[in-house]
Amino acid sequence: MRKPFIAGNWKMHKTVAEAVDFAKRLREAAARLTDRDVLIAPPFTALYAVAEVLKGSGIHVAAQNLHESRQGAFTGEVSGPMIAEAGCDYVLVGHSERRTLFGEDDALIARKIEAALECGLKVIFCIGETLQEREAGLTAGVVERQIKEGLKALRNDDIKQLVIAYEPVWAIGTGKTATPGQAEEVHAVIRTLAGRLFGEAAADSLPILYGGSVKPDNMAELMAEKNVDGGLIGGASLDFDSFFRMVMFDRKD
Ligand code: PGA
Repeated sequence: MRKPFIAGNWKMHKTVAEAVDFAKRLREAAARLTDRDVLIAPPFTALYAVAEVLKGSGIHVAAQNLHESRQGAFTGEVSGPMIAEAGCDYVLVGHSERRTLFGEDDALIARKIEAALECGLKVIFCIGETLQEREAGLTAGVVERQIKEGLKALRNDDIKQLVIAYEPVWAIGTGKTATPGQAEEVHAVIRTLAGRLFGEAAADSLPILYGGSVKPDNMAELMAEKNVDGGLIGGASLDFDSFFRMVMFDRKD
């Protein structure tokens, strides 16, 4: 009942022209795929142009971050309503690069999630432990804290607007992927916790993506796990052919 969800996080890569070129190819190749969700998250500068290309295609467009206020004197920041108006339907919140390089903590992430939902954006909420935390046996506790703190302000039905991406920090951009077993173990913890917090039915339909060095070569084995519903892909989503192979992870032709 949960559709595969394949998402590309481009981070600080691609000019507007490059992004539009990619989006046109993606529209051509993936617009008619109704059995899976496909999403790209270009940098802010390319959002409007990419969303225009993908309008009506069913392919999702996400911003990689938002400010928690609707407007104001926040030089250099972009708000949820601006992102929604540019044509996005999703926004990433809580990516580990935002947490570690830009000092975002659980409380700020909770406010950003609330702000995103308020203006009708769906959220890909990223969580995950560091290598140190994993080695100390803290993985389950860390993701539990991130979920409880990050989703504090969620109201009844808000969970339906949410996708969770489990991204172990030690696997992001390192070429070191979690094994399918390691990913499944944490995804199962996340789904059980979501059941406790939001009810069984909501937890059952919650998409939980794995992220961290996903590539065309390891996508299918990760997707074979019961609780792995998709991938949030960084480096390997920048090349069209590589990304499209992961979109079509279950097709041989
Ligand atoms: P990666 O990045 O695929 O390059 O490891 C994943 C992410 O940060 O979302």
